[in-house]
Amino acid sequence: MGDGASTVVASAPGKCILFGEHAVVFGQPAVAVAIEQRLTVTMRPANSWSVDGSALNPQKHPHIAMLKERYLGDDAPPMALHLQGDIPRASGLGSSAALSAAVGAAMAHLAHPSQALDRNQLSEIAHQAEANAQMGRASPMDTSTSVEGGIVVLSDRHETVANHAYTRTLTTPEGERRWEVHRMEAPEDEVYLVLGNTGVHAPTSQQVALVAETVSKHPERMNDILAIGTVARRGLEALTQGDYDAVGRAMSENHLLLRGLGVSSPELESLIQAALPTSLGVKLTGAGGGGCMVALTRTPKETSEAIELAGGRTLISRLGNEGVRLEPSPNNRS
Ligand code: PMV
Repeated sequence: MGDGASTVVASAPGKCILFGEHAVVFGQPAVAVAIEQRLTVTMRPANSWSVDGSALNPQKHPHIAMLKERYLGDDAPPMALHLQGDIPRASGLGSSAALSAAVGAAMAHLAHPSQALDRNQLSEIAHQAEANAQMGRASPMDTSTSVEGGIVVLSDRHETVANHAYTRTLTTPEGERRWEVHRMEAPEDEVYLVLGNTGVHAPTSQQVALVAETVSKHPERMNDILAIGTVARRGLEALTQGDYDAVGRAMSENHLLLRGLGVSSPELESLIQAALPTSLGVKLTGAGGGGCMVALTRTPKETSEAIELAGGRTLISRLGNEGVRLEPSPNNRS
């Protein structure tokens, strides 16, 4: 008896960009990997819609409000949402995309309990929810990685080294944007990602504007954007071959180019220096200016300790984690 039968639980991973941030804005390929850290949503029947005890408010919870409209409509029986997980917020690790993916999967299941999850539809709706919450601007990188899991490659063309999955378009305030989305699995090996959080928050929009200004003032810097694309393709090829030493070298090379573009910070540099001696490769990940760095390493404990000694908060993740999934519902306690 009680509400056990209609309680739905779903979880989705965060993401980390291995190659190509910033250059992807100019059409170059970018590679993201689903991390072990996940966000879990539990939805239980209730008397009114709520999120962690507060009334569902479209201003405060724009992703959830839009997903509810798309999947359930206005007349759906109310549910109480409870969110938990270990993806730090606002640090470039895709926590809002994981929220959209997990809530969307739970709502899709509520709407059609006997149907298998339509991942293609979910990644499209989750991308729209992200764009809607970010003034019409969002690449499908975070949402596709959170829905699909594994490794996701975004580019303005079909990349030969990864399997093309689908094309995504979005009407942004700057016009129509289009992305070719590819998917691949991470070859198995005893390698880990250590993510080091500086604790400094630098808005992505500000960092993207900084690069746009640099390139417009110094057009020759476009060569650095193209060079990031070349390094990203080389890193991707190394990934497909399971050559993690070469992946690491490409990551470090990618970082030097990002630093040259002015998107690193003293805090990031200090965590990166600390991780270098025990890593295959180290770079900032995401928009930079603060946020996180990522190290590829065979000795995650040592690398994590070195980063923490330099003042960073760390998370350890394997490569190749599962995308969004429904979790077994807890037994009814009433
Ligand atoms: O802040 P993040 O991790 O979501 O990364 C932003 C990535 C950029 O390339 C800097 C911006 C973008 O829209 O792709």
